Amino acid sequence: MASSSSARLLLASLLFSSLCFCFCLASSQASVPKVSLQLYYETLCPYCSRFMVNHLSKIFEDGLISIVDLDLIPYGNARVNSNDSITCQHGPNECLLNTIEACAISVWPDVSEHFKFIYCVELLVVDHKYESWETCFEETGIDSTAVLKCYESGEGNKLELQYAAKTDALQPPHTYVPWVVVDGQPLYEVSAQSIKFF
Ligand SMILES: *[C@@H]1O[C@H](CO)[C@@H](O)[C@H](O)[C@H]1NC(C)=O
Repeated sequence: MASSSSARLLLASLLFSSLCFCFCLASSQASVPKVSLQLYYETLCPYCSRFMVNHLSKIFEDGLISIVDLDLIPYGNARVNSNDSITCQHGPNECLLNTIEACAISVWPDVSEHFKFIYCVELLVVDHKYESWETCFEETGIDSTAVLKCYESGEGNKLELQYAAKTDALQPPHTYVPWVVVDGQPLYEVSAQSIKFF
């Protein structure tokens, strides 16, 4: 799952959806729902962090975010144990960062707010410096209190259990991460149409 091909598919799919958006707008004048884009990922997976930093971040630069409902689900290939603790694919540090990012999303529901912080953390992951993730509070000018409280109080673990349920309910189930779902369809299914379309 090379991230560059994922990105091409994402872009093709977004362009396809944008064209539809314009067409629908021109033909009906009705308000058109945004394109929903869900990213199922885990914080320490190299393909995920590169995808987020190198490709997904572009939708904030080129304005596509104004027609996209972006939903980040930081859980990925983790699993829930019988005692409700969570085991993560890349170990306890990944569980920590998944939970911190879940807390960031909860504390700052506005995607342009929480993406700033999450982008900062994932950039450190790309650069193999994620141990200094706490510098991202300073870097983004965001107060750390609410996020750390969410993590330390166990609220973050509850959020992760909700993300676990959401990830495990995917139809079709995800088979790898990053797993991108556009308007309810995994990108690998949308991609066939988009490629033919172009
Ligand atoms: C919960 O289960 C996991 C996996 O079986 C185990 O490693 C962990 O120690 C358990 N935690 C508690 C608090 O019992």
